[in-house]
Amino acid sequence: MSAERFSSSGGPPHRVGLVGCGAVAGYGHLPAILAEPGLDLVAVCDISPERLAAAPVPEVVPRCTSLADMPELDALVVTSPAGAHAEHVDWAAERGVPVLCEKPLAVDEATSAAMVERMESAGVPLWVGFTYRFSPVARRIHELVKAGAVGQVRAMRMVFLWDLHGAFEDRPGRAGVNQRRLGRMREGGPLVDCGVHQIDLARWWLGAGLSVDHATGVWFDDLDGVVAPEHLTAQLSGGGAQVHVDISVGYGHRAPSTLPTFTYEVIGTDGVIRYRRQERDFVLIDSEGTHDLGWAHEKSFGGMYADLTRALGGQVHELPTGRDGLAATRVALEATDRAIAGRAAGGHG
Ligand SMILES: NC(=O)c1ccc[n+]([C@@H]2O[C@H](COP(=O)([O-])OP(=O)(O)OC[C@H]3O[C@@H](n4cnc5c(N)ncnc54)[C@H](O)[C@@H]3O)[C@@H](O)[C@H]2O)c1
Repeated sequence: MSAERFSSSGGPPHRVGLVGCGAVAGYGHLPAILAEPGLDLVAVCDISPERLAAAPVPEVVPRCTSLADMPELDALVVTSPAGAHAEHVDWAAERGVPVLCEKPLAVDEATSAAMVERMESAGVPLWVGFTYRFSPVARRIHELVKAGAVGQVRAMRMVFLWDLHGAFEDRPGRAGVNQRRLGRMREGGPLVDCGVHQIDLARWWLGAGLSVDHATGVWFDDLDGVVAPEHLTAQLSGGGAQVHVDISVGYGHRAPSTLPTFTYEVIGTDGVIRYRRQERDFVLIDSEGTHDLGWAHEKSFGGMYADLTRALGGQVHELPTGRDGLAATRVALEATDRAIAGRAAGGHG
């Protein structure tokens, strides 16, 4: 797209196409791809001509309504809804094109596993867009845990309580069902949609797989076609630690706007690391006192795309793999199923 662009290996920038020009592409992926010197956005695709027209990309970037019209690519970025990910990953597998796919990989385990296997059989990488891993916050926690800054990690509390863009299409008028929110609920609810990030971080920080010990759900609305709870609490364990994930998309969802609660606490034998988004608080508390770690946002699309450049250039990178995506999706689905089974058995909700 521009002559001054170069890849990390000094060659021409890597040619990237994106499918699914919706919300996360608009605020996260597309600006980050356009800002990354090692990547060249060579086309965008969406089945909706309106979404395509509104995509925040320069006029010179070709827009298409079918992947069949994509030019030659070095990587495909998949930011379509979870139900369409498999079709788009298949397209790339058939052509030997590496993929960076948004989470969750798919809405069920069999499809997620098949996607990973197809890409492995094709011999091309499948990476998952766990953007939280690239935040300076998540990276710092990873380093500190690895260095033993809090001793042995015994517990983690991962809390994200929000309204998933609110219940109403017209928030101030409190009218209409918010279809974006409904779509996410139909795709599996808060743990499958957002909580896979928290599950992935806990796995990465602990360097261990996680299993589900217990899960309960809370239902606020009777949403058409939805079985998942809007608020879910899961107790997981792995790597010698208990991991508590508390995640809600029903937190003030009928209010004109709400302040979410977003927290990580990593609790070890010798100290605690605490991150609180709203309070802009990121500290290490140990035997010497409380140390400010420097607050930052919990996501980084820019960091993820700098790593995509390294990965496509054959350099060392830390992009989470399809197997990471599958592991997190498995845990999220199992905990959600347990919460639903608990309700059916007369439990909470
Ligand atoms: N990593 C994050 O922080 C983050 C944040 C939000 C959403 N997400 C994930 O990103 C994905 C997209 O979410 P969103 O909120 O942008 O959704 P969205 O509904 O706003 O956008 C999806 C876009 O895909 C298009 N689309 C649908 N089916 C298609 C198909 N078959 N072919 C081509 N285009 C198609 C739609 O027209 C729409 O423009 C989901 O998997 C979601 O879970 C991730």
